[in-house]
Order: sequence, then structure tokens, then C-alpha cells
Amino acid sequence: MFWKSLATIAAFSLLLTASVADAAITFFYPAAKSWVKRSDYLIFKLNNPEITGVRITVNGVASEIMLIDSPEYRKAFQDFVVMQPVWDPGRNDIVVDGYSGEKKIETAAIDIYYDLKGDPATVPAEYHPNSVHTPETEKLCSACHNMTPTPAQLDSSDDRKNPCYACHKKMANQNYVHGPVGTFSCADCHNLQGKPKYALPKRDAALCDDCHADKAAEFKKRKYLHGPVEAGMCEICHDAHGSSYPAQLRQPINTLCLSCHESIGAGIHVVRTSDGTGHPLKGRPDPSKPGSGRELSCVSCHNPHGGDVRYFFQTNQEDRMQLCQMCHNK
Ligand code: HEC
Ligand code: HEC
Ligand code: HEC
Ligand code: HEC
Ligand code: HEC
Ligand code: HEC
Ligand code: HEC
Ligand code: HEC
Repeated sequence: MFWKSLATIAAFSLLLTASVADAAITFFYPAAKSWVKRSDYLIFKLNNPEITGVRITVNGVASEIMLIDSPEYRKAFQDFVVMQPVWDPGRNDIVVDGYSGEKKIETAAIDIYYDLKGDPATVPAEYHPNSVHTPETEKLCSACHNMTPTPAQLDSSDDRKNPCYACHKKMANQNYVHGPVGTFSCADCHNLQGKPKYALPKRDAALCDDCHADKAAEFKKRKYLHGPVEAGMCEICHDAHGSSYPAQLRQPINTLCLSCHESIGAGIHVVRTSDGTGHPLKGRPDPSKPGSGRELSCVSCHNPHGGDVRYFFQTNQEDRMQLCQMCHNK
């Protein structure tokens, strides 16, 4: 585990008025004994005005003491601290020490669980999901952030006016951002009236079809649908917000395909070539898309969603030779 480097830790914060809360430090996100699938923020509030600096220790690795007592800092953030940690996979023991000058005057500890895959099934039962948008927490944020946006504000593609942008701008900070996320149209999918707040009324194909009706119509006409597409599991391959890969895929194409089709990676695929290996599956330019800069991959030959012939060949023709000719024998 490491901190992004202290210089880049966005250590903000802010305080509260003198209404003294019970504990010296209140953790908002992640909450104690909760699990997260993102390594994005650590947010807490200091309830002792004498604290001038904090030291964060995660799984035994300690940061320096970060000063929070400058007038500028206090003015902007008061007693709140927002940091950008990098969690270890699995359990993370977090200790926050509050210092007054060189002297440690407060300490608080929680443990949370970080599951990269975001799969609730693999998280130990003692950890519960997080929820930041609860009335109690939002009340504290609302002093500085707009927590009760109007529909017009929600529709705003002007960053400064959009009520989700201030805290979620990192979501659009990815190589491949999904259309509505790039415009901060979060409310197109997340329901303002939802319980809990911003709950998704629909998932997977039911959600995607709202805007990708053309795809739904195309899939309906196919004679053969790829297993997970037939099951409507769009999110298993696509991230609804964005990712480092084209089409917001969760992993590079071949890694994604091989995560379910392990045997293809292990065996000899398509042909036994002169050197006894299988057909190349990556690492060469794709001759069927000259000039595109695209690399050979599983989807050079297979449509990832389905087709009218078995194996969903990109040619959409039964004849295997036609597939070969797409790239060879020209
Ligand atoms: C005293 C004012 C104040 C309060 C109260 C406050 N914040 Fe902030 N917060 C700020 C300021 C100022 C910024 C930075 C300016 C900006 O980007 O809008 C900020 C930015 C953030 C960011 C973005 C960090 C980044 O740049 O990536 C997050 C996340 C955040 N706050 C969460 C919260 C949460 C959650 C609460 C309530 C528990 C809260 N804040 C309460 C003042 C406050
Ligand atoms: C005060 C800062 C702040 C604002 C404003 C804000 N969020 Fe959040 N929200 C957070 C933080 C922090 C988290 C937890 C960290 C994360 O998942 O990025 C979160 C989590 C969420 C979650 C996951 C469920 C939950 O309750 O934890 C959803 C969904 C969400 N936000 C949607 C929205 C939408 C939509 C908007 C705009 C209408 C919005 N948020 C505005 C800070 C904010
Ligand atoms: C195309 C639909 C869609 C749009 C648009 C969208 N979301 Fe989501 N969001 C989802 C889905 C689906 C999930 C559940 C993903 C999961 O749990 O794997 C989710 C989950 C989340 C979560 C919690 C879990 C996580 O992935 O961290 C947060 C936070 C969140 N969305 C915030 C936002 C914000 C902020 C915006 C606007 C910038 C936004 N979403 C726009 C569909 C969408
Ligand atoms: C609120 C409308 C909306 C919803 C809901 C929605 N999308 Fe999109 N999607 C868009 C827009 C807008 C674009 C960008 C324009 C385009 O390329 O079609 C886009 C683009 C995409 C792309 C990239 C297209 C390309 O050519 O690179 C993929 C992949 C995608 N969406 C998948 C999904 C999946 C999977 C879901 C369901 C989890 C989903 N979308 C739900 C509106 C939506
Ligand atoms: C097995 C993984 C997988 C599943 C499941 C999946 N997709 Fe895709 N999808 C892909 C891949 C891979 C691409 C990129 C194809 C390329 O780059 O040529 C893609 C591309 C797309 C595109 C961009 C336009 C296009 O066709 O190239 C859209 C839109 C899209 N998918 C929507 C969906 C929807 C909606 C679902 C659910 C019904 C879904 N996908 C399910 C793997 C998948
Ligand atoms: C989430 C798991 C999953 C992922 C990811 C996945 N597949 Fe599949 N695939 C299946 C299932 C389930 C079937 C249907 C059962 C079967 O025939 O093996 C299937 C069937 C196929 C078939 C037809 C097999 C036959 O005998 O008719 C091909 C070809 C295929 N997948 C290619 C791909 C490609 C290419 C990718 C990556 C874009 C991919 N798969 C990603 C689960 C997956
Ligand atoms: C050069 C074209 C080509 C590439 C690249 C390719 N395939 Fe295939 N694939 C085929 C052909 C042709 C078949 C039909 C069966 C056969 O002739 O071996 C097939 C069959 C399959 C099948 C069903 C039969 C079986 O062996 O289980 C799956 C699943 C599959 N491919 C997955 C993949 C995956 C995953 C990748 C990427 C790692 C991939 N393919 C890359 C051409 C290709
Ligand atoms: C999407 C494009 C594409 C398709 C379709 C395709 N190939 Fe290839 N094939 C390649 C590329 C690229 C290479 C590597 C060529 C190189 O490195 O010079 C290759 C290499 C080969 C080789 C190895 C040649 C050698 O000397 O090692 C054989 C054999 C081969 N392909 C047979 C086939 C057959 C049979 C089919 C149809 C079932 C087919 N290919 C379909 C792109 C394709």
C-alpha cells in the first residue's frame, strides 16, 4: 500500500461549528466496517479544534504529518479532511492520529474492506456496503455542497453548475468515458427519488436498452446470441461509467474473453501453425482493419454480441474460408 505521494494527496477539510460530536474523529467514507470497490477517497471530520495536523496509517504504512491549520485550509474546509488513498486489496486497517504541533492528542481507528471486483459475494459478511448519500451525512456536506439539486441543475452540462461534478469529477477522468457520464447526466441512470438515494431503478440490458434501443433491436434479430448477451448481462463486460479500454470494457478484450474461455488461451486455436502453436490471437496489426491501428484480438474474428452463424464470425457467413480470406490470400 502506498500513498500517491504526499504532494498529490488532496488533503482538504473543513470544520464544523462547535457542536461537539461524540468521538474525536468521525469517519464518513468509507464508514467503519464497510466495503468499497473504489480506491478513491477517505473522508473524515475532526471534532477537536486543537488538532493542527494528521497522520494516516494504512496497514502499518504511515504518512507524514499533514498540516491542516493554515487559515486558507480552515477557511475552505474547516474540520473536514478529504484524501485520496490507495487501498490494499482486502482488509485495510486505517489509523488517524491527530496532532497539536508535535504532540499526538487524538487517535481513531477503523477497518474497511476493498474489493477490486466489487463483488459482494467475495466480501466477508462482517463488512456492509457503503452509503454516503444518507440524510445524516448529506446534512453535513450541504453547508458547502449542493445536496438537493433541482432537475435543471441535474441536467446542466456546465461543470461548475452540475451538482454531481464537484465530488465525482474523477469519474469522467478516464481514457474511455461513457457518453452520459462525460456530460454528467448521472440522473439519467441514478434515480433522485430512489431509496436509498440515487439507487438504480434498473440494471444491465433493461437499463442499457433505454438509450441503446438500436442494439436491442439488432440483438433480437440475431440467430445466435453470445451467452452473456442473451442473459442481458451487459455490465459484465462494459463499465457503465468508463474505463481504460475502448467501449468502456472492464478489461483488455482478450483478457476479458479469456476470463470465461480459459481453454482457448491454453489450447491451439483455429489452426496448428508450422511451428506447432495456434493462430496468433494478439500482438499483430489486424489486417482486416488496415490503417485503424487496431491489434488482432478475439473480436477480429468473433462478434462479441452474437451473429447469424455459429461462433458469430465477423463475416456473418457460415463458410470458414471466407473468414480466413478476410485477412489472408488477398
Ligand atoms: C466547509 C465546506 C465543505 C464541507 C462542509 C464539505 N466540503 Fe467537500 N469540498 C469543499 C471544497 C472547498 C472542495 C474543493 C472545491 C471543489 O472542487 O468544489 C471540496 C471537494 C470535495 C470533494 C472532491 C475532492 C476532489 O477534488 O477530488 C469531495 C469528494 C468532497 N468534497 C466530499 C465531501 C463530503 C462527502 C462532505 C460531507 C461529508 C463534504 N465534502 C463537506 C468544502 C467542503
Ligand atoms: C459532497 C460531495 C458529493 C456530491 C455533491 C455528490 N456525491 Fe455522490 N458520493 C460522494 C462520495 C464521497 C461517495 C462515495 C465515494 C464514491 O463512490 O465515489 C458518493 C457515492 C455515490 C453513490 C454510491 C451510493 C452511495 O450512497 O454511496 C452514488 C450512486 C452517487 N454518489 C451519486 C451521486 C449523484 C448522482 C450526484 C449528483 C446528483 C452526487 N452523487 C453528488 C460524494 C458526493
Ligand atoms: C448509463 C447509466 C449510468 C450513468 C449515466 C451513471 N451511472 Fe453510476 N452506476 C451505474 C451502474 C449500472 C452502477 C452499478 C455498478 C456496479 O455496482 O458495478 C453505478 C454505480 C455508481 C456508484 C457506486 C458504485 C461504483 O461504481 O463506485 C457511484 C458512486 C456512481 N454510480 C456515481 C455516478 C455518477 C456521479 C454519475 C454521473 C457522473 C453516474 N454514476 C452516472 C450506471 C450509471
Ligand atoms: C442515458 C442514456 C444511456 C444509457 C442508459 C446507456 N448508454 Fe451507452 N451510450 C450513451 C451515449 C449518449 C453514448 C455515446 C454516443 C454513442 O456512441 O452512441 C453511449 C455509448 C456507449 C458505448 C460506446 C459506443 C462506441 O461506439 O464506442 C457503449 C459500449 C455503451 N454506450 C454501452 C452501454 C451499456 C453497456 C449500457 C448499460 C449499462 C449503456 N450503454 C447505457 C447513452 C446511454
Ligand atoms: C462478452 C462481453 C460483452 C457483453 C456481454 C456485451 N458486450 Fe457490448 N461490446 C463488447 C466488445 C468487446 C465491444 C467492442 C467491439 C469492438 O471493439 O469491435 C462491444 C461494443 C459495444 C457497443 C459499441 C458499438 C459496437 O457494437 O461495437 C455497444 C453500444 C455495446 N457493446 C452495447 C452492449 C449492450 C447493450 C450489451 C448488453 C445487452 C452488451 N454490449 C454486452 C463486449 C460485450
Ligand atoms: C461472462 C463470461 C463470458 C465472457 C466474458 C465471454 N464469453 Fe463467450 N461465451 C460465454 C458463454 C456462457 C457462452 C455459451 C456457452 C458456450 O457455448 O460455451 C459463450 C459462447 C461463446 C462462443 C460460441 C461457442 C460455441 O460453441 O458456439 C464464442 C465464439 C465466444 N463465446 C466468444 C467470446 C469472445 C470473443 C469473448 C470476448 C469478447 C467472450 N466470448 C467473452 C461466456 C462468456
Ligand atoms: C483468426 C480468427 C480467430 C481469432 C483471432 C479467434 N478465434 Fe475463436 N474461433 C475461430 C474459428 C474459425 C472458430 C470455429 C471453430 C474452429 O474452427 O476452430 C472459433 C471458435 C471459438 C470458440 C468455440 C469453439 C471452441 O473451441 O470452444 C470459442 C469459445 C472461441 N473461438 C473463442 C475465442 C477467443 C476467446 C478468442 C481470443 C482469445 C478467439 N476465439 C480468437 C476463429 C478465431
Ligand atoms: C482478422 C484477421 C485474420 C483472420 C480472419 C484469419 N487470420 Fe490467420 N493470421 C492473421 C495474422 C495477423 C497472422 C500473423 C501473420 C504474420 O505475423 O505475418 C496470421 C497467421 C496465420 C497463420 C500462420 C502463418 C505462419 O506462417 O505462421 C495461419 C496458418 C493462419 N493465419 C491461418 C488462418 C486460417 C485457417 C484462418 C481462417 C480460419 C485465418 N488464419 C483467419 C490474421 C487473420
